[in-house]
Amino acid sequence: MKGKILVTGGAGYIGSHTTVELQAVGYEVVIVDNLSNSRAEVIDNIEKISGIRPAFEQVDCNDKAALDAVFKKHSGIRGIIHFAASKAVGESVEKPLLYYRNNIVPLVNILELMPIHKVEGFVFSSSCTVYGQPDAKNLPVTETAPILPATSPYGNTKQIDEEIIRDTIHASVPFKSIILRYFNPIGAHPTAEIGELPNGVPQNLVPFLTQTAMGIRKELSVFGNDYSTPDGSCIRDFINVVDLAKAHVVAVERMLNNKSKANLEYFNLGTGRGVSVLELINAFEKSTGVKVPYKIVARREGDIEQIWANPRYANEVLGWTAVETIEDTLKSAWDWQLKLRERKIM
Ligand code: NAD
Ligand code: WQD
Repeated sequence: MKGKILVTGGAGYIGSHTTVELQAVGYEVVIVDNLSNSRAEVIDNIEKISGIRPAFEQVDCNDKAALDAVFKKHSGIRGIIHFAASKAVGESVEKPLLYYRNNIVPLVNILELMPIHKVEGFVFSSSCTVYGQPDAKNLPVTETAPILPATSPYGNTKQIDEEIIRDTIHASVPFKSIILRYFNPIGAHPTAEIGELPNGVPQNLVPFLTQTAMGIRKELSVFGNDYSTPDGSCIRDFINVVDLAKAHVVAVERMLNNKSKANLEYFNLGTGRGVSVLELINAFEKSTGVKVPYKIVARREGDIEQIWANPRYANEVLGWTAVETIEDTLKSAWDWQLKLRERKIM
């Protein structure tokens, strides 16, 4: 065993996939999750894939005393990956204080507890949302692209979180940190044992698309085909969730093995490939043979026209590259939707 890693939000979409990848290379995982956006069965399903049951503590990361007790119970935690947060952009506009509390207080609690429990490294889930709509000259975006004013309270919490981490590391705390800025994670584990579990009507493209293909939704609305892009629909960098999960393992190893030069580093996690909404629908139909009824509707307020990553820094410095094709990734999303039906969840 290489040591213990605490994964907050480990029952969630990206956290569950990351847990499997950490276990695969010999880390012992302790999951802390309040199950506010996930189900307890995820722990069983992680075990089905890896053959190892992660420790699970149903704890709210807002509760500092309960988190402290987790560190004491599972002594020797070497690293933390902090996924636990609320992530629905629309909901954050309606309930900003919920987002400011849930996406900031747990971070402060964890950063305060880390030196007390001698934790060596901290990985933080940030988002390409911090770049807003980059100027054309800054596309694809590198880590040095300007951080633009956030367009939602959710986006603002990620910017504030990044600043909190920067100031904390600047104050010479005895640990290192890596901030990972994800582009658009999609897909599911190839076993279809774990995947994304959207709450209510999905706001994100791929869960809405797979639910439409399944007949749960009548048709997919494509928000706008009059953008200044080759086919008029928006462009994103859709990254396979297992590829994304693997980058977290590399980030943890980098900190624990003292490979990082700086105490704080930032990496874009994307494929470097911009795919339009219409191209994604075509790729889904091609790889699954399932038709997706869709219609073009008005633009969605607040949408960014186009953004994709320049992942060269992560490729070269982390030695990590996203390898999965968009077709295989969309096939995995479809297999997961079929599994949700088999499990009578959706
Ligand atoms: P998710 O909702 O599937 O997972 C988050 C998990 O955290 C859930 O299991 C939830 O129950 C748990 N949680 C939330 N608040 C908690 C709290 N106070 N205490 C304990 N557990 C709590 O979301 P995800 O897609 O896996 O996202 C993980 C992280 O990545 C989040 O920080 C999110 O903002 C960030 N991120 C996600 C995306 C994306 O498109 N999915 C993109 C960029 C960044
Ligand atoms: C992708 C594209 C839509 C749904 C959001 C957050 C971001 C990050 C990822 C966490 C857009 C179009 C969508 C639909 C559509 N999350 N679309 N019909 O907006 O890039 O990013 O999730 O950090 O912060 O803002 O992702 O999946 O919602 O949309 O046409 O029913 O699909 O207009 O162009 P987005 P998304």
